[in-house]
Amino acid sequence: MNQSIIETQTAWSDYELIDTGDGERLERFGETIIVRPFPEISWSKSQPKEIWDRADAIFIRTKGDKGYWKTKKPLPESWKIHWKDLTANVYLSPFKHTGVFPEQSAHWAWMKNLLVEQKKQKPEYQPHILNLFAYTGMASIVCAKTGAKVTHVDSSRSSIGWAKQNQAASGLDERSIRWILDDVMKFVTREVKRCIKYDGIIMDPPAFGHGVTGEIWNFKSSFPKLIDLCKQILVENPLFILVNAYAVSIYPETLEKMLNDLTKKYDGNIESGELVLQESQSKKLLSTGIFARFSKK
Ligand SMILES: C[S@@+](CC[C@H](N)C(=O)[O-])C[C@H]1O[C@@H](n2cnc3c(N)ncnc32)[C@H](O)[C@@H]1O
Repeated sequence: MNQSIIETQTAWSDYELIDTGDGERLERFGETIIVRPFPEISWSKSQPKEIWDRADAIFIRTKGDKGYWKTKKPLPESWKIHWKDLTANVYLSPFKHTGVFPEQSAHWAWMKNLLVEQKKQKPEYQPHILNLFAYTGMASIVCAKTGAKVTHVDSSRSSIGWAKQNQAASGLDERSIRWILDDVMKFVTREVKRCIKYDGIIMDPPAFGHGVTGEIWNFKSSFPKLIDLCKQILVENPLFILVNAYAVSIYPETLEKMLNDLTKKYDGNIESGELVLQESQSKKLLSTGIFARFSKK
């Protein structure tokens, strides 16, 4: 079995995890500092109260993941942050999200590198990448920027709207990504029937979710079925497959074994681990989720 790895994202100029403690995380997106609840954080804060008091917005939880943002000054509806040559719109959602999962920049760098290397080896070949549960599209944009053909699937109209804004802000033409508003299972089932093949698959399945017309996504029962379907839509020698997941109550090694069902017939490397953010000040690590990924040899 491979050793579990820890993929660590440190601060970059437009994002910083400043501190964590007592069930909260203090972060900076661009110039704006926010506090979000994160119940898994059971240790104490490292930074003094004055640092935490610099927050411009604090998420106040009301029920479940829902809540509202208490702001200290008027904030724009959205603002821009940059990662390499990409631009993302940040906004404060009523589910405590910001439209960007900064820890995933570790995955963006990984897939960008694979696509750039492939392009050097086969400049004439345009890989086709499928991004499932694609949210606001940063991974889609990373791939499209390298010249890959990208199909982006999500069941939320508003997420696709944000993704298109991120695409435009990143200087890409709207036709550089095929936008699909659909239930993932329905879409992949159709791609199987249409014999469409992909060189790479990215997926960020939630623990629970809904398709466009209420189809139920339940990681535990739906994910193995999705893996089975994905077996039928891969090219003979796929470039990469990435599965990222939050709050799914399984170990990275379990996710790796499930991904291995899909990738075992291909010649490549498979690895799994935790995706962590490193605090800029005390350098403590915050584990945010798990992943398993395969790349061609
Ligand atoms: C926020 S992202 C993934 C982030 C992370 N995995 C999490 O659990 O928060 C999840 C995305 O999956 C989409 N989604 C959920 N269920 C879906 C389904 N059945 N078909 C297509 N997209 C779905 C949501 O609209 C959302 O954009």
